[in-house]
Amino acid sequence: MTGELSPIDKAKFVAARRAADMVEDGMRVGLGTGSTAAWLVRCLGEMVRDNGLRIKGVPTSTRTAELAREVGIEVVSLDQAGWLDLTIDGADEFDGDLNLIKGGGAALLQEKIVATASDQMVVIADAGKEVETLGAFPLPVEVIPFGWQTTRSLIEETLVAMDVLGRSVTLRMKGEAPAITDEGNHILDLHLQRIGNPRQLALVLNQIPGVVENGLFIDICDRVVIGFGDGRVETRDINEGTIEQDRMEFAESDNLFSDLTD
Ligand code: A5P
Repeated sequence: MTGELSPIDKAKFVAARRAADMVEDGMRVGLGTGSTAAWLVRCLGEMVRDNGLRIKGVPTSTRTAELAREVGIEVVSLDQAGWLDLTIDGADEFDGDLNLIKGGGAALLQEKIVATASDQMVVIADAGKEVETLGAFPLPVEVIPFGWQTTRSLIEETLVAMDVLGRSVTLRMKGEAPAITDEGNHILDLHLQRIGNPRQLALVLNQIPGVVENGLFIDICDRVVIGFGDGRVETRDINEGTIEQDRMEFAESDNLFSDLTD
């Protein structure tokens, strides 16, 4: 029930609910990863079940794939879909140019591939994700396990010449062991505090051997749907330069709020 949701979860839900309305019958849709994207997947599942919406969903992680199947969305691989009409995903941070930090959920690699293979990428986020300058959220970088400590040293050396405030790099852990991504890699989190030139940093990081991909999404996102805890939603379109405001109503008895597993 919505009464049991925290304001932040309500904000995530209304952003997801608004973005679900952008999905049209017959679309091939990239399905993001994370708690906000999980709301989207539930909303789309409801539309499939109740409104007969027909879509093909391309998940960006095994956990999104599981949820999508659970709620009745037809799941296909990116190679089966070929190209996507729309990808909707969460973000850890977005700035005024709709550049993003992603990868807090360790799914940045598939997320970036899927978003890049889409006509449109829409980010759904609570208002707390907006920043003036990217970098307070540690920047995730996916690296292959072989020689990861050498890769970390190379990243640290590279950061010396970059416009950043902090330079510490930590290996993401899951309990006692390094976290493992869907692709079998590790995640290094770069504690930069402030990224002065995200475009340059994204390019330079990907030149380092051992780095598979970084969590900076530059010029990939087209629209952001920002949710607020009171049900307000703001949609910004970077290409059109438009801002739309809306309010989403909650249905207290909505099936979406029962049996939550994420
Ligand atoms: C997953 O790897 C991330 O990119 C998520 O999209 C991001 O961490 C946002 O997650 P929440 O929606 O849970 O905040």
